[in-house]
Amino acid sequence: MSAVSQKQLAAEAALEYVEDGMIVGLGSGSTAALFVKALGQRIAAGDLSIKGIPTSRETEEVARESGVPLIPIEQADRIDIAIDGADEVDGRFRLIKGGGGCLLREKIIADAADRMIVLVDETKLVARLGAFPLPVEVDPFGWTITAKKVFDALRAVGIARPVVDIRRKQRDSLDPFITDGGHYILDCACGEIPDADAAGIALSIVPGVVDHGLFLDQARVVIVGEDDGVKILEL
Ligand code: A5P
Repeated sequence: MSAVSQKQLAAEAALEYVEDGMIVGLGSGSTAALFVKALGQRIAAGDLSIKGIPTSRETEEVARESGVPLIPIEQADRIDIAIDGADEVDGRFRLIKGGGGCLLREKIIADAADRMIVLVDETKLVARLGAFPLPVEVDPFGWTITAKKVFDALRAVGIARPVVDIRRKQRDSLDPFITDGGHYILDCACGEIPDADAAGIALSIVPGVVDHGLFLDQARVVIVGEDDGVKILEL
């Protein structure tokens, strides 16, 4: 079974966690999009009434196309659940996110939610975070200096040879990728992150860093799509 089919199974299983009247944070990326589409079908069938808050313009578009009602985040005094994908998940439910460049809004919404539910195919489960390059969102002003400071911060927490690259719009383009918030992304190939808590703190205090893709204390449920169904892991 392909990763896409596993993502689809995880997305459908996540519907079990959505209750009538909830405010639902809608994640970004291909798995979250499958969930938003499945949610739209339930709403269209008249089974469910919820309000969604999207974590990206892309998700906002998918939600509108799928008939999922949205509210601006400023109108929500609380969020019941956030449902999102991830690039890596370790055994302690710590995540790397931001492969799609939406990490800042994803983190704001995951952190505000009473519960974050993560949807992945089984390739995303890792023993230790770091094989996937860690996205770090930075202000465009002085980004070359910020990139050097990010390199130093990663070295200081035990990553021997980090490679810090600015994300481009396309593979052969010189134009930087720009996030929904108007920032750049530095993709930091670490190989392995020996101490994710220390790395998170070290990155957070670099001036110019807006946020990083380590989600260390947000996920409470991980739904893993497998070949013959889903595995549900709960903290
Ligand atoms: C978006 O910025 C990311 O955090 C995604 O949630 C992550 O990259 C997973 O994406 P897929 O669901 O497309 O694998």
